[in-house]
Amino acid sequence: MTIQWFPGHMAKARRQVTEKLKLIDIVYELVDARIPQSSRNPMIDEIIVNKPRLVLLNKVDKADPRVTEQWLAYYREQGIYALAIDAQAGKGMKQIVSASKEILQEKFDRMKAKGIKKPRAIRAMIVGIPNVGKSTLINRLASKKIAKTGDRPGVTQAQQWIKVGNELELLDTPGILWPKFEDEVVGYKLATTGAIKDTILNMQDVAVYALRFLSSHYPEQLTKRYNLDEIPEDIVELFDAIAMRRGCIMSGGIVDYDKTAELVLREIRTDKLGTLTFDYPNKSGEAE
Ligand code: G4P
Repeated sequence: MTIQWFPGHMAKARRQVTEKLKLIDIVYELVDARIPQSSRNPMIDEIIVNKPRLVLLNKVDKADPRVTEQWLAYYREQGIYALAIDAQAGKGMKQIVSASKEILQEKFDRMKAKGIKKPRAIRAMIVGIPNVGKSTLINRLASKKIAKTGDRPGVTQAQQWIKVGNELELLDTPGILWPKFEDEVVGYKLATTGAIKDTILNMQDVAVYALRFLSSHYPEQLTKRYNLDEIPEDIVELFDAIAMRRGCIMSGGIVDYDKTAELVLREIRTDKLGTLTFDYPNKSGEAE
């Protein structure tokens, strides 16, 4: 479910995350590996002050491995702990526990020095915008199906801890924060990857963005998928070429641009064009 984020919802979501922070040792900030920057909540650094954090690049199976490596190197350089995971397939789960232990080593050593003989399990919570895979990750770590509570930021729930082995306890409800809509390009990236509902933005605009991006960053995948000899510079011609090859034509031979846009976006989201990443780890977020 995609939430329409109004200021009241944002304030409430923020309050709920802030409340839960008191209960935990570490935050797992879940982002989409295809758009690690655009799928972050714009205020997360402000909300999660003074809490150790582990950034989890989820859906790594859908992201360009070359750019994922660049992102991991970038985080390392910044001194931020980050892991690439695939919550759906359960890849990277063990590393979450070991990285958490490493991050919290000092705190637990201090507790030990104070005479607390047997340090308790690490307490963690998952935070992220809708659709990044929070429920999937909770279920994976819990090794059982936990009912999805819905993405409504206003719902009050009793907190429960999920035991992950002996060393980790996870809050059963994730912190849900809002994506950044104000920036047009961020919105297009969120829509291209399916993070926000198709009714929020104009599909043709989103497809124009996506096709321009693919033309400059993934030309081979684009030509291969749509059997193009070359990529026309003019975006309308590119739409036309794809529509012709895929039969997105209305009666009278008119190109059905809505259908073409839907087809392209559906195929991007279902990995038909291969692994793709739309954010780059530099100031602009674009390839340099
Ligand atoms: P949320 O709680 O953060 O809102 O996200 P949720 O877990 O509901 O996941 C959103 C979608 O992303 C789901 O697909 C889920 O299966 C998929 N997903 C989560 N983690 C991964 C991953 O690591 N790799 C891939 N490829 N997909 C992942 P859906 O189409 O909405 O639902 P369904 O088809 O699984 O039923």
